[in-house]
Amino acid sequence: MTPSLKTQNTDKPILYINEEDTSNRWRDALIPLLPEVDFNRDFYIWPDGMRGLENPKDIDIAIVWRPDPGVLKKFENLKAVINLGAGVDAILADSTYPKTVPLIRLIDPALSRHMCEFIIHRVLHFHRKFHIYEKMQRDHIWKELVQDDTLNKSVGILGLGKLGSYVAKSLIPFGFKISGWSRTKKNIKGVKSFHGIENLQRFLKSTNILICLLPLTPQTRGILNFETLSYLPKGAFVINSGRGPQIVENDLILTLNNNHIAGVALDVFCKEPLPIDNPLWDHPKVIITPHIASISSPKSAAVSIAKNIRLIRSGKQPGPLVNLQLGY
Ligand code: GLV
Repeated sequence: MTPSLKTQNTDKPILYINEEDTSNRWRDALIPLLPEVDFNRDFYIWPDGMRGLENPKDIDIAIVWRPDPGVLKKFENLKAVINLGAGVDAILADSTYPKTVPLIRLIDPALSRHMCEFIIHRVLHFHRKFHIYEKMQRDHIWKELVQDDTLNKSVGILGLGKLGSYVAKSLIPFGFKISGWSRTKKNIKGVKSFHGIENLQRFLKSTNILICLLPLTPQTRGILNFETLSYLPKGAFVINSGRGPQIVENDLILTLNNNHIAGVALDVFCKEPLPIDNPLWDHPKVIITPHIASISSPKSAAVSIAKNIRLIRSGKQPGPLVNLQLGY
């Protein structure tokens, strides 16, 4: 269910929560786009820039990234929460999140493009055996490896939402067979659609390079475990830029060590930053990046945020709204 919007506000203060943005890049990107907002008077930065706010009830819009649990609840008259990323799991993990307040997630062309660059790079890395050539260089080995054709390889994408379908379409011109798995059936030209948990096994069995771009929900937590990873054909590769807890890390290591999975690229982890003693760091078949697959760019994303602020304040429907029951 997506709560409905009932507001007609004009110059209420905006709350900004993003403790990672120490130089207020998002505020600076919004200023030129919202000349009607007095950013000196009506923009409150949590937690240190709240002085001057007489009543938390005055805040009607919160722009947030990973707010601490319990913080949003303090602002009783919120009419909408705007998330600064694609994933809303951190917000929905807060059991005190006011479920009647519409939650808007970020859709931004740059976010999709950056994710696509990351995935295409990783897919081609494994497909063209650069993981082996890199090791050969270290061992001073000059040898040409047999190269498969993309036409014989299938790339499967778990999650065919905005990012997943964008990535799926972008991979088509390379010649791979593309399929996707999602909760409900999707019609994307050139992409074979599998849907529902009952078809997950069939989807995985036909996938040589698996990409996870799922939202984190109770249904997707641990979806890649020893059993499901073993459905992939021997020698398959896995790329995760969804959320860490979707893969059971110990099970993944087992399927790498028994040579079922040939290589993995992980951008997200159960615990971030990845603890220094986590065995994934040094595993020879694992490539690690620190959750950088797609980083929201304030300059680009501020356009849709500004548009949503205007829609909210004129009583119109902003978007895209998160379905709070489904969790994405
Ligand atoms: C990044 O992980 C995002 O959710 O946008």
